[in-house]
Amino acid sequence: MVRILDKEFEPYISSEEIKKRINEMGSEISKAYQDKKPLLVSVLNGSFIFTADLIRTIDTPIEVTFIRVASYEALKSTGKVREILGLKENVFGRDILILEDIVDTGTTLEHLSEAFQDLGTKSIKVATLLHKPDAQEKASKPDFVGFEIPNKFVVGFGLDYEGMGRELKEIYQIS
Ligand code: IMP
Repeated sequence: MVRILDKEFEPYISSEEIKKRINEMGSEISKAYQDKKPLLVSVLNGSFIFTADLIRTIDTPIEVTFIRVASYEALKSTGKVREILGLKENVFGRDILILEDIVDTGTTLEHLSEAFQDLGTKSIKVATLLHKPDAQEKASKPDFVGFEIPNKFVVGFGLDYEGMGRELKEIYQIS
């Protein structure tokens, strides 16, 4: 059990399980993008740890970049999204793989997919470590999913509660 600010969280997915599943995702992604040199777009802040671990399991050439968007405040999705910040690469005609820590309502993803489509990308796929299928209101299912989880708040492995808890090695679920 860990306490972050006013909330208690219990262990949910161990670091061994996460490692094993990320390895499998790396193989799936390597196979899907053989000889395509995709641009992996990691959505900060939450996906930085997932990104670092995932790309080291990929054995086909890729490029990686980092962007920011925000649609979340504390425990509940606000449904508001901001613009893509920090994209320097020319994405016209490129195969894009968006890397997310978690897909909840799908608002972030819907916005990003539309924005990338407008920029003339060749293809857009999504890899997410966690997916809350019960909460998904928008966008289609991500193409590569680490774990399907219930609609409960989680922290750790890059995910935060009010900015805290990102450093936890395992994923914890709210008690
Ligand atoms: P969406 O736009 O509702 O799909 O929310 C996506 C973003 O909300 C993620 O990139 C996270 O930053 C944040 N988020 C959603 N659920 C959780 C959670 O259970 N813990 C921590 N952050 C979350």
